[in-house]
Amino acid sequence: MSTPVVLISEQEIQTRVSELADRISEDFADARELVLVGVLKGSFIFLADLARRLTIPRTIEFIAVSSYGSGSKTTGAVRLVMDVRGNIEDKHVLIVEDIVDTGHTLKYLIGMLESHRPASVSTCALVRKAERAEVDVDVDYLGFDIGDEWVVGYGLDYAEQNRTLPYIGVVTPDD
Ligand code: PRP
Repeated sequence: MSTPVVLISEQEIQTRVSELADRISEDFADARELVLVGVLKGSFIFLADLARRLTIPRTIEFIAVSSYGSGSKTTGAVRLVMDVRGNIEDKHVLIVEDIVDTGHTLKYLIGMLESHRPASVSTCALVRKAERAEVDVDVDYLGFDIGDEWVVGYGLDYAEQNRTLPYIGVVTPDD
């Protein structure tokens, strides 16, 4: 893998995360509680920064999914590996993703969480590869639209490497 080339700087990310946190805090100002559901593993850094900047009552849950087989990204089949632990019935839920690529994972998660009968399900993603979309899924709170490049950092990995970079960088994968 090549050395990451900065695409979105640490400062740009931090500014955008603050803006998203302000909007979310405003939109849910009247909610008793907002349940942030982080999608493992990639969302853990974004979720940590976002959650600490909210000014409304919030709780944290995690969920884990995995794609079926190696052809998963083309079949779009998603499997639940770990469900939320707490009861989200009648609560406002915000799914927090690092990246939306084809959209299959987010679409699956919305349906899955809706089956828990929450008060609402909203979506938040730091980055989205709009041109890769295979399904129509709304991202209510979006950080950045990016091109179809392999990105690492701020939670995102390539073969588990570079997740903890403070910025988002582009790499060229090895063949
Ligand atoms: C990434 C990302 C989303 C999913 C998006 O997870 O965190 O969950 O892929 O892809 P989609 O829009 O095509 O469904 P990944 O499989 O890389 O796992 P990780 O977060 O554990 O690295």
